Parts: sequence; structure tokens; C-alpha cells
Amino acid sequence: MCGIVAYVGRKQAAPILLRGLSALEYRGYDSAGIAVMGERLSLVKRVGRVSSLAGAEQLTGTCGVGHTRWATHGAPTEENAHPHVFGKVAVVHNGIIENADVLKAECTARGEKFSSETDSEVIAHLLNFYFKGDLLAALKETCKRLVGSYAIAAMGEEREIVLARRASPLLVGRGEDGAYAASDLSALSACQTVYALGEGHFARMTEDAIRIFDDGGKIALKPLKKEEVEGLPAKGGYAHFMKKELMEIPASIANSLENYRSFAQNQAFCRVLCQTEYLTFLGCGTAYHSGLCAKYAVERLARVRAACHLSSEYRYLNPIVKRGELVVAISQSGETADTLAAAELAKAKGAILLAVTNVGYSTLSRIADFCLVTGAGREVAVAATKSFSAQLAVLFSFAADLARLRGMGERDLGNLPVLAERTLAASEGTKAWTGAFVHAKNVFFLGRGADVATAMEGSLKLKEIAYLPSEGYAAGELKHGPLALVEQGTPVVAVMTEKALAEKTKNAVHETAARGANVFVVSAFPPEDGLPTVEIPEADEAFSPILAAIPLQMLAYYVSLARGYDPDLPRNLAKSVTVE
Ligand code: M6R
Repeated sequence: MCGIVAYVGRKQAAPILLRGLSALEYRGYDSAGIAVMGERLSLVKRVGRVSSLAGAEQLTGTCGVGHTRWATHGAPTEENAHPHVFGKVAVVHNGIIENADVLKAECTARGEKFSSETDSEVIAHLLNFYFKGDLLAALKETCKRLVGSYAIAAMGEEREIVLARRASPLLVGRGEDGAYAASDLSALSACQTVYALGEGHFARMTEDAIRIFDDGGKIALKPLKKEEVEGLPAKGGYAHFMKKELMEIPASIANSLENYRSFAQNQAFCRVLCQTEYLTFLGCGTAYHSGLCAKYAVERLARVRAACHLSSEYRYLNPIVKRGELVVAISQSGETADTLAAAELAKAKGAILLAVTNVGYSTLSRIADFCLVTGAGREVAVAATKSFSAQLAVLFSFAADLARLRGMGERDLGNLPVLAERTLAASEGTKAWTGAFVHAKNVFFLGRGADVATAMEGSLKLKEIAYLPSEGYAAGELKHGPLALVEQGTPVVAVMTEKALAEKTKNAVHETAARGANVFVVSAFPPEDGLPTVEIPEADEAFSPILAAIPLQMLAYYVSLARGYDPDLPRNLAKSVTVE
């Protein structure tokens, strides 16, 4: 959700900022801009992707800030693009300033003019107002006035960058030629040492030094571990990150199974598992679907009652939390604002918080009592693919462990990477289905049991990257309303991985076919009725969503391409949703 980059060092800043912004573009791509301090301040802002800044690499100066925006307050226009410059300062901001209107009124009363509709511009005004020769002191004063979330990078006329963070990620790093800052690691490939700023931290970067502060003064942060900093992604010969990440699913599962094995050695966590009688899973989007799959697996294998909630709802439900209840917050990024709020609420009400995240240094990992890091590696495409598989791998391991500890038998997940490999190969068959989807008005994904969660995930992918209206629905519910939408040629994808339920799902399939639907099947059983089918390998039924989701992700990818879209950067969206 917006990308920040900043640099001060011995090299020209503009090319570094532009490279950083390209790496961060998946966080937001409505507009982009950079400001560079040389003999004077130069500013370039454009609507659209980072490539629209072509020519800005000529700006001279060795200190600068840049931003790629996902619009919250104000349309994607040049005026609303960051950096915002007022008086002596230039500012880039991620997050939302909730009291911006009040602060704006205060600045306007001083006679100051605003040139954008954004909440962020008020930060530049306040900084300029409080600046009395020390930019960091001015930033501290400014932050005292802000309600909401922010990661801020600002510069004045000196060759220094000042930074602040609250509820929005921000990293600083040391490279051979200077100091860097960015919203995530993708833009810090030139750094040997990287620090993740914590809540309420400030930093001052000059060419030779990075100083980090909290309320009490200067602090020494531990740098990120080498393995966290390594592995910066490239497309590796694939046309899109999404395809590359799909192909990485087997490795993502294998790494995640391994991560769970080490994590499960934690005795304190084992004690919690033994005592767990009730579980709550929380997540948004794909992570919510992981939670749904986990709920099915936990109830099925361990006979432990479980619920799964959308984080964005849970945080306002005034939820009933039993002291000592285990709440599992799932988030690839570990920075999703709604999931953080829901997790914090559960914790405040006495829950034990387990984080399942792909980013070991994320905010979610810091607030949790236990953190289970998935092994997907960096996921760049906005659509979650391998991170979903990784979440399922650890959550299914967790369900299996819960069952084992209750004397309900052992489950082997070790064959899942190989089965995923075979499923990937079979999923290429969905390319031949795209003709039926390209001009569809709407699409249905149907299933029963855990297959409903998979169907919902398939539908989310199709909406997200192919912009096709679709529903993931419980097959038995179709005739209670949505069947009215099925007409000649409506694509219907039936997911059937559970033998006991497959016959029932087929009834719904026949009902749609009788009304002209174009039916496609993802199934663990041999195809019947001559319907186009991706046959996934037979696996432990409790774990089948990890396989069944793959053809649906692949289908969305091919339909997106067939409709002429870029699957990596879907419109209106961003990889990490750090605002409410
Ligand atoms: O980083 P998170 O897992 O918390 O993100 C949650 C959702 O925003 C995310 O899964 C989103 O739904 C995906 N882009 C869907 O592909």
C-alpha cells in the first residue's frame, strides 16, 4: 500500500530512487514521484506507473525521496502524487492521517495554501511549521499531532533524511555508498545491513550514519538476519511474477513444512496446543480463505471447535474471547491493518496470539506470542499464490499436530510438494478453458465442505486479476438464489476433492448444466460425463485444498492474459493493505 524510498549518499539519488520505486511498484501504482536535493530541490510527479517518470533520472543531487502511490484520499492525479513539498521540506507518506481535516484547517488559518486533496500534504505543512533548524525535532513535533498510521520520509535543505513510523512498515539500510530507506526489502538490494524500524521509532540518515530513536532517545536495533535480507526476487525468465510464483508452490510447501517442524519443537507452544479447546482464525482476502481451510482441517482431524473470521469484521464485533483461547492471525505481509487490529483486540481480551506470516520481522510477528513464519519466500505479484500454499502447509501441519496430541492418529504431509508439482503440470490444462471465460458476464465456482473455501479463493483470483464478476459458492446453496444468474454459456467450475461430497456437488453441476452452464471440473477423481477436467492427484482429503487451489490460480492467470491484463499489477489494488 504505497511505496516509500529514500537515499542519501555519494551517488546521484535519482536513478537509485527510480530503481527502488520500480521494485516497490507492486505496493501501489496509481502515481509516482521523486524529489531530489541538489543545489536546489527538483521534483517530478506523474500519474501512472513508475515508468511514467522517464527522464527524471537526469535530476541532480545525492539526497532524495520517492513514492509510488495507492490512492486513499484524493484521486490519482499529479497534484495528489507524492512527494509533497511545502516551504523547505519534501515529504513522502504511507498510511492515513485521520485528523488531516482538523490539521489542515489549522494550517489554512495560518494562511497556508494546500495544493492537493491528500491527507499526507498536511505533514509537509506541519514539518515546515515546526522546523527551527533541526528536521528530526520538527518531525517529532509533527508526529505528536498526527492521528492515524504513517511511515514518513522527509528531507529539507541539508543532506539528510528523517523518518518516522507508526503502524506502517519502514526499513533503513546501509549500503557501501550511503544510507537507504524503503517500505520493504525489495528496494534495499544495495544494502549490506538492514534494520526494521519499530512502532514509534524515528531515524536520521546521513551519508555516513543511520541513527535510530524511540521516545527515550537513541537506540541500537538488531539488524535483520542475513536470510531475511537475501533472496531479492527477479522474474527468472518468466513473463510474470505470478507465473514464477505459481511454479514455486512445491518449494513453498516444502519450506513451510520444514518451518513448522522446527517451530513445533517450541515446548511453550506445545503446552498451548495441548490445552487448546477452541480456536479462532483471522485473516483478510486469501489469508481468510486459508483460515477457512484450517478451520475445516482442525475440526475434521482433531475435533476441536474452530471459527474463522474476516479480520475487518472481527475488529468491530466486540468478539467473545475466552481467556487463554488460541487466536491464529494469518497474514502474508504481516502488515495488513485490519488483521493487526483484530489480532491486537483478541490479545487485549486475553487470547494467546499465534501469527502465521511470511515476514518474520513484520508488525504481526512482533505483537504475537508465537510466530510461525511460512516459507514462501518473497511474493511480488499482487495475487497471492505460493503464500496461500505456504499458509495451508503450516496450518494443516498444525491441525495434524493438534490431532496427534489428542491421540487421533498421525498424518503425513511429506508428499504434498511432489503432489503439488504434479498438480501444477495438470493445471496447464486450464489454458484451454480460457475461451469460455474471456467474454463471460459472470462465473461460478462451486464446492462443498473445504472445497467451498477453495472455490472462494478461485473466485477471488478471477475477480482480482481478470476483472470478471464471479462467486465462490456452496454448491447446495445455489438453488436458493444465485442459480437465477446461470444462463446459456455461464462458466461454472466445480471443485470436488472429497469422495463423500462429490456426488452431492455433481447434483448442483447438473442443475447448472441443465440451464446452459459451461461446466469445468477440478477433481481428485477420474473425469466423468466428458466434462473438461483438471484431475488433481489423490491426497489426504483433509489437505486437498492445497492442491485444488492451484488449477484455479492458473485459470485466473490465463484468463487475465487472454483478456489483455497484467496479472502482476491488478487495477485499484496493492500487495499489502496497510490502511483500514
Ligand atoms: O498480507 P495479507 O496476507 O494480510 O493480505 C491479505 C489480502 O490483502 C491478500 O490476501 C489479498 O486478498 C490477495 N491479494 C489476494 O490474492
